[in-house]
Amino acid sequence: MAEIRPTIGVIGAGVTGTALAYQLFRKGYRVIAVNSRTLTSAQRLASFVTGCTICNTPQQVADMAQAIFITTPDDKIAGIAAAINWHASQFVIHCSGVHSTNILEPALACRAFTCCLHPLQTFASIEEAIHNMHGSTFALEGDPEALAVADEMVVALEGNVIHLKASDKILYHAAATILSNYLVTLMKTAADLWHAFGIEQEDAIRAMLPLVKGTVNNIERVGIPGCLTGPIARGDIGTIKKHIQALGQEAPGALEAYCTLGLQTIPIALAKGRIGLETAAEIRAALEGKATFSESDYSDLYTMLGLDFGAGSANQPENKQT
Ligand SMILES: NC(=O)c1ccc[n+]([C@@H]2O[C@H](COP(=O)([O-])OP(=O)(O)OC[C@H]3O[C@@H](n4cnc5c(N)ncnc54)[C@H](OP(=O)(O)O)[C@@H]3O)[C@@H](O)[C@H]2O)c1
Repeated sequence: MAEIRPTIGVIGAGVTGTALAYQLFRKGYRVIAVNSRTLTSAQRLASFVTGCTICNTPQQVADMAQAIFITTPDDKIAGIAAAINWHASQFVIHCSGVHSTNILEPALACRAFTCCLHPLQTFASIEEAIHNMHGSTFALEGDPEALAVADEMVVALEGNVIHLKASDKILYHAAATILSNYLVTLMKTAADLWHAFGIEQEDAIRAMLPLVKGTVNNIERVGIPGCLTGPIARGDIGTIKKHIQALGQEAPGALEAYCTLGLQTIPIALAKGRIGLETAAEIRAALEGKATFSESDYSDLYTMLGLDFGAGSANQPENKQT
């Protein structure tokens, strides 16, 4: 099948718009028009490619290019889409992870084709975005005509495609937020704990990064649940109790995160198979701040695991481990 390579325009010359424009240009797309809130950003994007006209208005971009990326902040996309007189059969694309193509309804009304192309990647700066984009996953959602064009772009960018429905977008984006943004939060939380024994954040992060990379390698090579290590996977309740006591004294905020995430970790540890239900219930009680555990801890745990408490010997607690 012949490649569909429309000319490209960008409205919103920030990190994502500029990096996408540059990478698509490198792959042979013509990036011919850009508009941004400030002239400086538009000029910066134009300097990354050749043959790009700096437009005074978003409308001019829509009048020049066949495929227009709206890469403004999420909250601005709908207003910009509504203010433009789109041309029939042109492609209007936004890059928001949370919004569906529903916010491009004004373009659809002009008989343009619409989709969203969300790079499942973290872009902290234009340079980092250019560096990280290759090999990323791109989530696409939209109408078939626009998807054909977007699919072709992702192939050119050597990315992986996943297709979503409009109704999937919010959960999809919440997952990305948990994974990427909260990893930053976890790193900061851990570094703050190191600060308590005198190690500065920069040194702590440098020291801990190999641990993060090793964990990611294990997820990739061993998979979940086999990659889970640590006291919950081993059933080391004494260690968990020491953590809880120390965090309670030194870092109550971190204790809350430790316990909440610990509870989510129990089913992974059970699936790995080195602990049984009784140990899991004891860990659960400790993480919930209970001195002892009772039959209700088992039944809650069974509910959490989707099991039927009392349904047979296979699901019964094991003898207490020593
Ligand atoms: N950053 C990421 O990690 C990432 C990853 C995947 C997807 N995305 C998505 O990509 C989109 C852009 O995000 P970003 O992080 O690249 O944002 P960004 O760096 O802040 O860039 C947004 C740009 O939009 C421009 N802008 C704002 N209002 C405008 C208007 N009314 N008309 C024209 N341009 C306007 C701003 O221009 P000036 O600079 O001229 O003020 C700014 O440069 C969002 O939908 C976001 O969800 C971001």
